[in-house]
Amino acid sequence: MKVAVIGQGYVGLPIAIHAATAGYEVIGFDLNLEIVNNLNSGKSHISDISDSELKKYLESKKYRASSDPKDLEDVEISVIAVPTPLSEDRKPDLAFVESASQILGKSLKKSGLIINESTSYPGTLRNVIAPIIKSLSGDGISHEFAISPERVDPGNENWSIKNTARLFAGLTPTASEKTRAFYDKFCDNLIEVSSPEVAETAKLFENTFRQVNIALVNELALITRDLGISVHETIEAAASKPYGFMKFTPGLGVGGHCIPVDPTYLSYVAELAGRNANFINLANKVNLEMPAEIVKRIKNENGGSLKGKEVLVCGAAYKPDISDVRETPSEILIEELMKEGAIVSWHDPLVASWRGSKSVEINTKKYAVTIVAMLHSVMDKKLILKSSDYVLDCTGKLEGAKKL
Ligand SMILES: NC(=O)c1ccc[n+]([C@@H]2O[C@H](COP(=O)([O-])OP(=O)(O)OC[C@H]3O[C@@H](n4cnc5c(N)ncnc54)[C@H](O)[C@@H]3O)[C@@H](O)[C@H]2O)c1
Repeated sequence: MKVAVIGQGYVGLPIAIHAATAGYEVIGFDLNLEIVNNLNSGKSHISDISDSELKKYLESKKYRASSDPKDLEDVEISVIAVPTPLSEDRKPDLAFVESASQILGKSLKKSGLIINESTSYPGTLRNVIAPIIKSLSGDGISHEFAISPERVDPGNENWSIKNTARLFAGLTPTASEKTRAFYDKFCDNLIEVSSPEVAETAKLFENTFRQVNIALVNELALITRDLGISVHETIEAAASKPYGFMKFTPGLGVGGHCIPVDPTYLSYVAELAGRNANFINLANKVNLEMPAEIVKRIKNENGGSLKGKEVLVCGAAYKPDISDVRETPSEILIEELMKEGAIVSWHDPLVASWRGSKSVEINTKKYAVTIVAMLHSVMDKKLILKSSDYVLDCTGKLEGAKKL
């Protein structure tokens, strides 16, 4: 059976390869020609899929990347995995979902099953994707529609597409049945919910739960600092309670395509319904203000000014051991440091170039201030500690550095 996965990024490529593993013949469709060419020559841009694994499925002809809509004509199952960012005015931007739906509506020449894995607000499958595809489909073509929000956590070695429970729901019972049959071949635990809207909202709530709790612990870090109490010891102490508490740790903020973005999809629909999403809005504010709070502290502890001082920021990616810099709080940190007149360099062995500059090698004692924004396991911890007399670690993982 032929499957197309629309979008070959952090979500789409792993899904495509898992479907190929299950024996489907998979087209990894992406509009980015460079990505398509690299994938077809065996070069993966996603750390969860190795080049050797990709080559295995290219050779067995179970997987091929394409940007040609003609390759979609005889596809029976399509999975949409395209970005769902925020617009400049911080509203849900469904342009990629709409474009993927248009491509499918125009290209599919057989009735099939269309599953959305992209994260979006409740009603996206029913009111956006299905109507676009139906309006563009040829006579006699009648598709089934379902949602199965992706929960992949890039770089997580314990939880994969296979063993992470997967929610799903179809617009019709037939769509649900076919969706179960599809994922059953490569996912261990499928959970059907009563409507696509429940699945869509559950996904937003999962990430909102993280966003709000991260903001809460970030605020605690600011409060305990003012009170002269260790936030890390406080959290460890609280975490000894065996029930009713979940541990979150403070940091520079939140990054990536999910936590800083998805809650705003929920607040958007809440506002449309006349309800203010107070927690989400406040959590956004607290998380976005963390870099400025940290710069304020660094300034105070370094003679009241950072003007003309060399500052090293270690970690450009938003989380450890991956190269993703989308929405990284390091960006806000660097902007805040530059506002104070600091001369900023950054170091991240996983991110070769970013913001029009390149990762620097660390020089011993060169810097007035070093800030550890993110700590990858490949980073030279001893060298970071030697880079400056003042090393502030925002991750809580570098022994010997100042902590939040
Ligand atoms: N990254 C994560 O950890 C993660 C986890 C769970 C869910 N999600 C959700 O999954 C969705 C995809 O995120 P991602 O991180 O994989 O994005 P990504 O940017 O890594 O990949 C998306 C790909 O889609 C392609 N694309 C865009 N429009 C297209 C179109 N019309 N046709 C074909 N290809 C198109 C882009 O070129 C890109 O390669 C988002 O809704 C995101 O919120 C992401």
